[in-house]
Amino acid sequence: AGRCVVAVDGPSGSGKSTVSRRLAVDLGARYLDTGAMYRAITWAVLRSGVDLTDAESVAKVAGEVDLRIGTDPRGYGVTADGVSVDREIRGPEVTRAVSAVAAVPAVRELLVARQREMIANSERIVIEGRDIGAVVAPDADLKVYLTASEAARAQRRSAEDAADVTVTAADLARRDRLDSTRKVNPLQQAPDAVVLDTTELGIDEVVVRLRELLNERG
Ligand code: C5P
Repeated sequence: AGRCVVAVDGPSGSGKSTVSRRLAVDLGARYLDTGAMYRAITWAVLRSGVDLTDAESVAKVAGEVDLRIGTDPRGYGVTADGVSVDREIRGPEVTRAVSAVAAVPAVRELLVARQREMIANSERIVIEGRDIGAVVAPDADLKVYLTASEAARAQRRSAEDAADVTVTAADLARRDRLDSTRKVNPLQQAPDAVVLDTTELGIDEVVVRLRELLNERG
């Protein structure tokens, strides 16, 4: 099998991460979680104490942090300035702040460049995020846009985080709004993306469908 780039986009709770990881394992491909990159930069920004609304200072911190992603063979593992931040980047402080940091154009420029570099250096890769099919990897072999009802997404996220479903639903709605309305590279469906609604589909069904699509495309 030759080079293969799969772009998976969608809002949080759409099943993106689970599907992308499973597909990467099935394809023997590298897995890249771009949300983890934005989260790790956000962790560094919070640690630095700079004002989140000060785009210039946020960009400066982002430019200085030594971010490493995929520090274990499966493509998981994130370190920032040598500190393992896998747990911290999933916590409520980072989750609350990440959309603001991800809206800073200089932060996006930096991370999009890093992501393209990783794609160029990978034979096969499954990459998930918000702007992958539209911006980061417009030439991907397969572009997928996963959706699910708001209720289903909130249900999944609150189960994962052992959090209250009402609070989670409000947080998801806020993050989706910020991510969809920001000026630079908002959450968007690439025109040539395959759209799958995962509200009623199991992970297995989605992964099988994606593998079929890849096979059809040779
Ligand atoms: O996917 P995840 O929930 O970990 O993403 C966290 C946040 O990172 C998103 O809410 C969004 O603000 C930002 N993000 C982004 N572009 C990407 C991936 C994530 O702006 N490609």
